[in-house]
Amino acid sequence: MAIDPKKKMEALVALCKRRGFIYPDSDIYGGFANAFDYGPNGIELKNNIRDAWWNRYVRMRDDVVGVDTPVIQNPKVWEASGHLQTFSDPLVECKKCHRRFRADHLLEERSAEPGYDKERPVELKDIRCPECGGEFTDIKHFNLMFKTFVGVTEDSTDTAYLRPETAAGMFTSWKDIRDTMRKKLPFGIAQVGRAFRNEITPGNFIFRTREFEQMEIEYFVKPDGAEAAFEMWLGEMKHWTENILKIDPSHVDYREIAKEDRAHYSARTLDVEYHYPFGTKELYGLANRTDFDLKRHMEASGEDLRWFDQEAGERYIPYVIEPTWGLSRTVLAVLVEHMDMDEAPNTSEGESERIVLRLPPRLAPVKAAVLPLVKKDGLSEIGEALAKAIREAGIVVEYDASGSIGKRYRRQDEIGTPWCFTIDQDSKEKGTVTVRDRDAMSQERIAIEEVPAWIVEKLK
Ligand code: GAP
Repeated sequence: MAIDPKKKMEALVALCKRRGFIYPDSDIYGGFANAFDYGPNGIELKNNIRDAWWNRYVRMRDDVVGVDTPVIQNPKVWEASGHLQTFSDPLVECKKCHRRFRADHLLEERSAEPGYDKERPVELKDIRCPECGGEFTDIKHFNLMFKTFVGVTEDSTDTAYLRPETAAGMFTSWKDIRDTMRKKLPFGIAQVGRAFRNEITPGNFIFRTREFEQMEIEYFVKPDGAEAAFEMWLGEMKHWTENILKIDPSHVDYREIAKEDRAHYSARTLDVEYHYPFGTKELYGLANRTDFDLKRHMEASGEDLRWFDQEAGERYIPYVIEPTWGLSRTVLAVLVEHMDMDEAPNTSEGESERIVLRLPPRLAPVKAAVLPLVKKDGLSEIGEALAKAIREAGIVVEYDASGSIGKRYRRQDEIGTPWCFTIDQDSKEKGTVTVRDRDAMSQERIAIEEVPAWIVEKLK
């Protein structure tokens, strides 16, 4: 059922809180702007996405290895990478209400308005504050890196930074991995972890926050193999969104970034954009970073970071293809994509509206629910034993014996549980249970002892 985008976002934020996916952080102190807690179901969903990614791109590939590097690295890393000098956003401030905005976002929003004349591009001086109509100051460049101090003094020699992307750790560990892991080019280094950016305008729930998670790969190739590797990773990113996240391909755009809008070192950049309810915005990125990073770290550290190609007898600095996936943004896209509303039978009240998360079973936080129709007559003992058997098969299961069966189904639909197993009199007499499928709403009976294997088979 098509849902009005604004209503969908409101319903999603409410659902996330009601069903333990995402809560406002520090809620007992009135919250903390744009900070969120992942609740019990949210952390399961996020971990399932992360595990599917790690499994596909690290464990199942011979040409990618994983690392885990610190959030706070030697500050020299950020000098060499150019982040200290250039990792900034253009900031303007309203002279009247003193609210701050990103100049590029204001221009982007204006150019997306209906009737916008591309022949006469809008300039910042033509735009007024969206909050109070005031004039803006000139653009200032605002560095997004969070500063901190390492050690007991707080002077400039102790200044360190929280990483604004995980990528740097792959460049600084390149030499050790090259020298110890017996890999051949091309190969990649992958990392999943937190990144921190002092964003000027965070917002849209977990879309843009100051603390978030990334899943990144730096894929090192011989320079003449860079374009083929770019295409290979583009294919992988499409496969990931369509076949693992099950996102409708018509909800995703692959946008080539024009030369004048790319970072100066990038030979090619492509943004993967998703149609969020609040607009079409970046989900992932793919870039050909050339030899920029290794060259800069080689110059700054004095270490030889070149690759020695034994067959050709030559040394060169590899090019790097970087596919990058925002993990927190993936959680949001998956929730938006799979949240649906329909009418479903509700035993006590007839048909009523239900919210259902049609999550791919592999990503669902809870895979199965065991629901005895009544607590008495030994049905709860049968249910508890079944839930235990499912849990022992390594499957996340919920046992729920209280409330009307209709309400219990609704609760499971709202967290995206694909299968509910109902225990009734026949379970006692014939040793069978009813399986209710979340999407088909079909019911079938299977033997109780077959349930764990049945779920494992479905999850394959
Ligand atoms: N190493 C390249 C890099 O960091 P990026 O486009 O700045 O590139 C990569 O970030 C991904 O990280 C984005 O495509 C997005 O998914 C995610 N991301 C970036 N900033 C974010 C923020 N403030 N909140 C949530 N996710 C963010």
